[in-house]
Amino acid sequence: MNTDLFEELLKQPSNFKDESTLDINFVPDRLPHRRKELSLLSQLFLTLLTNPNVISRKILITGKTGIGKTVTVKLFGMILSEASKKRNISLKYIHVNCRKERTSYKVLIKIIQSINNNFPKRGFSSQDLLESINNYLNIQNQHLLIVLDELNYLIKKDKDVIYSLTRLNDDSFNVPQRLSIIGIVRDISCINNLDASTLSTLQRNIINFDVYTNQQIFDILKFRAELSLKKNVISDELIKMISNIVFVEGDIRYGLNLLWKACKIAESKDLKLITSECVRLANHDLVPFSTLDVLKDMPVQKLIFLLSIVILLKKKKEPQISFMEILKSYLVLCENTGMNPRSYSQLWNYLQEHKRENLITINLKSKEIRGRRALVEIQDIPLPKYEEIIIDILNSKGINI
Ligand SMILES: Nc1ncnc2c1ncn2[C@@H]1O[C@H](COP(=O)(O)OP(=O)(O)OP(=O)(O)O)[C@@H](O)[C@H]1O
Ligand SMILES: [Mg+2]
Repeated sequence: MNTDLFEELLKQPSNFKDESTLDINFVPDRLPHRRKELSLLSQLFLTLLTNPNVISRKILITGKTGIGKTVTVKLFGMILSEASKKRNISLKYIHVNCRKERTSYKVLIKIIQSINNNFPKRGFSSQDLLESINNYLNIQNQHLLIVLDELNYLIKKDKDVIYSLTRLNDDSFNVPQRLSIIGIVRDISCINNLDASTLSTLQRNIINFDVYTNQQIFDILKFRAELSLKKNVISDELIKMISNIVFVEGDIRYGLNLLWKACKIAESKDLKLITSECVRLANHDLVPFSTLDVLKDMPVQKLIFLLSIVILLKKKKEPQISFMEILKSYLVLCENTGMNPRSYSQLWNYLQEHKRENLITINLKSKEIRGRRALVEIQDIPLPKYEEIIIDILNSKGINI
């Protein structure tokens, strides 16, 4: 019976040419409208090829969400690795996502394990790890380009490691420089929390990525559609329709997801091409990828607090709810799940963090009583979908709602 089901599916002709190229982590070998940034990076890092280990570069990349910071740097890393290989220069590129590796220890372990597979995970201090990285690089005569993506997560918790990494060879005169760094943040203001010397190091070279224009979004989505979909499955008019939707937030990830979902919907209706109705249905059904990413890595208590906001907004059918109302909804949820509620001030912090992560918006009606007059709203995501996703994530973490 089950084999028959697969048989059926396999027989259906697909509208996709290569579905995997719509994956948000896929790195295409060309990036329309990021040529300037790629060539700027090449100019800055040329010295790693012409004078290996003489200079170390520290660069900071800034720009809004979903506008190609990560993918541009990843493509650059691949180009640089290939160029160095061709010239017999020992250079390694490592991409670390600081949202996933939340502590300096995890970041350092990730770095050291990518240069030495067998390095044990536990039993070292951060200082030990830094020394091991340095020793290893000296023995191998290697240069490392470390990308610290979503660096703001590390700045918030564990900024010492950034200081140590940016200073690795700086104390000693005339010794080989083994480590270059590219930091990526959305908002430049977060680096103000760093110590003065790290700040000045990073501020020397900042590359700001501009948001894409509507036309640029169209070009990018057309290119990605050509990679992933069969010919004539989507028309330029519909790519334009998707670009217009994406342009509001500017996050290309959402466009890729819309393309994918619209194509899946077309297939489920046995259509040979995507129609405007497929795009509309897909748009109705989607939660931005950036949001999903944040939710998946969110600590359980914070997620439960967010869920209580979503549930209440859904129930009340009013666009805004107050912090005090949310507290009540949260306490009920805690009781149902057998969780110990967090303190008022912790919850107030969660609320501020949710706001910073663009999950909610807050309107303060008065500044006098802290928190009491805050009105909370969720704008972009359909609430039933939001609720379903959060519950799924909680379930996957062993919490049953
Ligand atoms: N110029 C481009 N050409 C092709 N694809 C692109 C381009 N710019 C972005 N993308 C695609 O859009 C998606 C989002 O890009 P990316 O992950 O680099 O965003 P980001 O700026 O790092 O966002 P965030 O700050 O949320 O991490 C990726 O899947 C990427 O492949
Ligand atoms: Mg990114």
